[in-house]
Amino acid sequence: MTRLHDCFNAQDFAQVARRRLPGSLYHYIEGGADDELTVRANTQAFERHQLVPRQLRDIRQVDMQRRVFGCDLEWPVFMAPTGMTRLFHPAGEQAVAQEAARFGAGYMLSTMATTSLEDVADCATGPKIFQLYLLNDDGLNRAIIDRCKAAGYDAICLTVDCVVAGNRERDLRFGLTVPPQLNRRNILSFVQRPSWGLRYLAHGGITLPNVPTPDGSSSLGTLTSYFATKMEQNITWARVEQLQQYWGGPFIIKGLQSVADARDAAAAGVTGIIVSNHGGRQLDGSPGVLDLLPAIVDAVGDQLEVVLDGGVRRGNHIVKALALGARACLIGRPYLYALSAYGQPGVARMLELLRRETERTLGLIGVPHIDDLDRSALTHLDSQPVNRPVLLSTGAQRSGAYS
Ligand code: FNR
Ligand code: LAC
Repeated sequence: MTRLHDCFNAQDFAQVARRRLPGSLYHYIEGGADDELTVRANTQAFERHQLVPRQLRDIRQVDMQRRVFGCDLEWPVFMAPTGMTRLFHPAGEQAVAQEAARFGAGYMLSTMATTSLEDVADCATGPKIFQLYLLNDDGLNRAIIDRCKAAGYDAICLTVDCVVAGNRERDLRFGLTVPPQLNRRNILSFVQRPSWGLRYLAHGGITLPNVPTPDGSSSLGTLTSYFATKMEQNITWARVEQLQQYWGGPFIIKGLQSVADARDAAAAGVTGIIVSNHGGRQLDGSPGVLDLLPAIVDAVGDQLEVVLDGGVRRGNHIVKALALGARACLIGRPYLYALSAYGQPGVARMLELLRRETERTLGLIGVPHIDDLDRSALTHLDSQPVNRPVLLSTGAQRSGAYS
């Protein structure tokens, strides 16, 4: 049995989570759309960019403080919004938000969260952003924005890449249902994880207290099917501007991947964008987000804040993203694996490891302040001469990504 302190990275936590969760839930976290090319591309993109250290620098103090999306961060990281978190462990969103605050990171709470936005605001002292899924009823959208105002959220983040449901074959294959129900595809995996089942029952199941409904329905099954039919499929820039005005504070769009959309976001006057493919869970076949970042930063980085989301598993990944111009990074699956494996102490250890890795990497490359990071800290595998030995076989050699 692996103990908490025998986990040293996200992959270690994933292995423990796999042994503790029923298969359908583990695969819901880990999986992506179609062939999962984009899930893999997200992390592989970090492996193709390499760090070039400078030596003889004064690195006695490493400073990672930065204000992003109106949030003062001591470590430029946000917990990505994730739905259904209490399904994985009853400590749920509150545990993650508390640990994010302890490690100087921000927390993003999903519309599909299993803890109310008020309860999260009450227990977590750090920066908090509410992630909105837009419904085709603006009365309901405004009602949830009003709740965020009353609870003191720092910003609203509108996710725009879920207007069509992604094809997640693991969910079909392993019989994922919300709420969890036994069926022929999943029964064995639930029987094999009795401690998960007992814990789930002891905590009275889950609900989705942030999904706005006209009649205050709280049955999970009703809520999820209601939500699916009410999702707005025509989010226009005009609508974004109205929402932004109604909210009146920092407003962020999550789920853009193109320079053209980033320019439209700048024209709409949003505070920031999160370059993201939803962790490869929506469209499959798009590039790793890190590869998209430089062109987007070059196009709009002086008009709005650009943050990266997807594939971050190491502190050195965070440093690479910052060097390419991201103001901060989001992390999703790493904290979910840690929560599923060990509850709140797992999240604490995962964040501590990642934060220490970020600091260590900055020290090792001789950049004591994140504001001094730039592209000169990086080289790209595809830009190296053909006949030099390289670590990975990445196919055709292209010309350098940066001049
Ligand atoms: C997500 N993600 C997500 N995004 C969002 O805007 N609202 C949501 O409710 C959810 N729910 C959700 C559930 C689960 C289980 C996962 C794994 C992901 C996407 C998430 O915010 C983020 O974009 C990705 O997780 C980033 O990729 P990494 O860090 O997991 O590689
Ligand atoms: C997901 C939804 C909740 O990615 O956004 O599973």
